Amino acid sequence: MRSVVRNRKGFLKSFAGVALAGPVLGRLEAIEDVFSASLHTLAQTPWESLGPQALQDRYMLDPSVVYLNHASIGTIPRQVHNARVEYLALCESNPWLYMWGTPWQPIREEVRAGAARVLGVPPSDLAITHNTTEGFNILANGLPIGPGDEVLFSTLNHDGASVCWELGAERRGFTARRFEFPLLDVPSLSVADVVELHRRQIRPETRVLVFPHVDNTVGLRHPLAELVAMAKAEGVEYVAVDGAQTVGMIPLDLAASGVDAYSASPHKWLQSPKGLGLLYVRADLRSELRPMWVTWGQRRWADTGRIYEDYGTRNLPEVMALGDAVDFQAALGPAEKERRYQQMRSDLKERVLATRGLEWVSPATWDLGASLVAIGVSGRPASQVSQELFAQAGVVLRPFETMGLNALRISPNVNTTPSDFDEFFAGIARALG
Ligand SMILES: Cc1ncc(COP(=O)(O)O)c(C=O)c1O
Repeated sequence: MRSVVRNRKGFLKSFAGVALAGPVLGRLEAIEDVFSASLHTLAQTPWESLGPQALQDRYMLDPSVVYLNHASIGTIPRQVHNARVEYLALCESNPWLYMWGTPWQPIREEVRAGAARVLGVPPSDLAITHNTTEGFNILANGLPIGPGDEVLFSTLNHDGASVCWELGAERRGFTARRFEFPLLDVPSLSVADVVELHRRQIRPETRVLVFPHVDNTVGLRHPLAELVAMAKAEGVEYVAVDGAQTVGMIPLDLAASGVDAYSASPHKWLQSPKGLGLLYVRADLRSELRPMWVTWGQRRWADTGRIYEDYGTRNLPEVMALGDAVDFQAALGPAEKERRYQQMRSDLKERVLATRGLEWVSPATWDLGASLVAIGVSGRPASQVSQELFAQAGVVLRPFETMGLNALRISPNVNTTPSDFDEFFAGIARALG
């Protein structure tokens, strides 16, 4: 049986005597009751009977859409959305109370603890930001680097984790260097190859190494612990990793990996509301990394990662709903999810290899890959094929015509059904003839 669903209602009760008035507690409990009941059912449902269609029914995707683009932006489960709507309504019933009063303060910390469990880090080292890009901007603006120092990353690094260094370099005098990653060799690369490709680029002045844990183009899972260990051995001071495509998809143990900072967007694979981010900063790095914006929280939160989320007013109902997203994914079970991702990927690969005009350009195996793959297309521009697939069959995916690729990126999630893949391959047959 999958993980026990935590009972937030019980947690609320423990605070009742301290802070919450009866009616306030009653409404919060009502939201939690509805959510916990449906979550409990989900957690008790044997995975075998939780078929892809049954899962898809728990989401709000337009039935005419074949959604194969979870890597660009995820979709949240209906019950998480419902809880979110309730939090929004509750907040509007007494905005001052919910924004600045006591009812949601302890729950926000519960939410942080849940997200921290997903990342494998202490809750006190985790900031709830707005997205991956924000975390990298905090790092590029706040790390103590300057003239003579280099920040290194490959062409696989996403703009959200790159541009802030490039513009920061102009302003602060350090250098940002993007090296060419041999994208077309990805299917044959090993862990040692990926480590060596990075090691070769490190220079005496390289103080920061940045890489995507899983890149957004071909879905190469960079070997996290191995790269961190190599970089430290080579004298790199800070290793900052982009987890936009991992959190919620791949089990993580970041504290054990030795990474210095990790920034992620839970709206993709954790299926949280949009506009939330997670930033882990190793505890002893906090004294060196200056926050990007500051207000009344700096002194109050001085010994925690919350100094990086010191915004003042923010959209707290969405933060509350992040907790429900974490609970939903826990009820699905990370190990079972990973099995489903793996199964879908190998089914997809088999069909790609059997289809004329298509080529597998992603890592050969799951341990270096992800539920995010690029499929090379011959004979027609990928963007044209993509437009046609959407117009004729509602297939949503992302084409790439960069870095020597002419490819369609497919990123299925646990609620993707076999018939979604059938629609994709039928569309391909029409488009490539
Ligand atoms: C690997 C990677 N990094 C960073 C980002 C930027 O994410 P956000 O816009 O949520 O900051 C994305 C978005 O697709 C991504 O795929």
